[in-house]
Amino acid sequence: MEVVICPNHDDLSLRAARIVAELIRAKPDAVLGLPIGSTPIGLYRELVRMHPQEGISFAQVRVFNLIEYVGLGPEHPQSSHRFMHQYLFDHVDIRPDQVYVPSGLAMDLDAHCLYYEQQIADCGGIDLLVLGIGTDGHIAFNEPGSSFNSRTRRVALARQTIDDNARFFPSRQHVPMMAVSLGIGTILDARRILLLANGPNKAGILAAAVEGMVNEMCPASALQLHDHITVLADESAASKLTATATGR
Ligand code: GLP
Repeated sequence: MEVVICPNHDDLSLRAARIVAELIRAKPDAVLGLPIGSTPIGLYRELVRMHPQEGISFAQVRVFNLIEYVGLGPEHPQSSHRFMHQYLFDHVDIRPDQVYVPSGLAMDLDAHCLYYEQQIADCGGIDLLVLGIGTDGHIAFNEPGSSFNSRTRRVALARQTIDDNARFFPSRQHVPMMAVSLGIGTILDARRILLLANGPNKAGILAAAVEGMVNEMCPASALQLHDHITVLADESAASKLTATATGR
């Protein structure tokens, strides 16, 4: 695991974008896994800038999104679908048929989740999967207690996650209690993982994930089992790291 400490969120975002852009240059038909959340917004801003300025083309790139809230349609302002269009897809040359977002409205969610896994496999697997981290250690929406072998499935959100995400909704009552999420096993199958952590409220959980015991009560600790993971953390998120904090 490589841990890079960045002076601030802008620097973290630029470094993350360079990693994504390098992959796209080397493999124009790369398969990406991309998250929602406040942390990756800077990454998407940089990719949108690089698209014309540095000729980074998404013409052949495929993107799989990590989650969708159950019950939210694609036009809902807080849906993963809408988020990704707002911050990335509407501003680059990606075609709608290259974008995969789990449906939160599928009649048969279990069948839909199996189909989503099949679509990832049919694309040859994910080359680079970008993650944020929840304050309870969740990755995608794999909450504490999720099996490290889990695949894409319907999940219940933890109380802490509902509290954290209430800021994006009119009130806490509006936050969906269920989501569709890539599993931890699905995440670990990605050939490369980039974990982004920003802000002092991530310091404790980032230290637990990176330096703590690998256990299912801290889902992000599963990432210690992956052999090609880079962690980009700003100074405040990295403030409780000790031994593994190397880069700058
Ligand atoms: C949500 C997403 C996660 C994300 C987390 C952290 O719960 N499902 O993928 O990592 O939020 O979000 P933020 O970056 O806003 O702290």
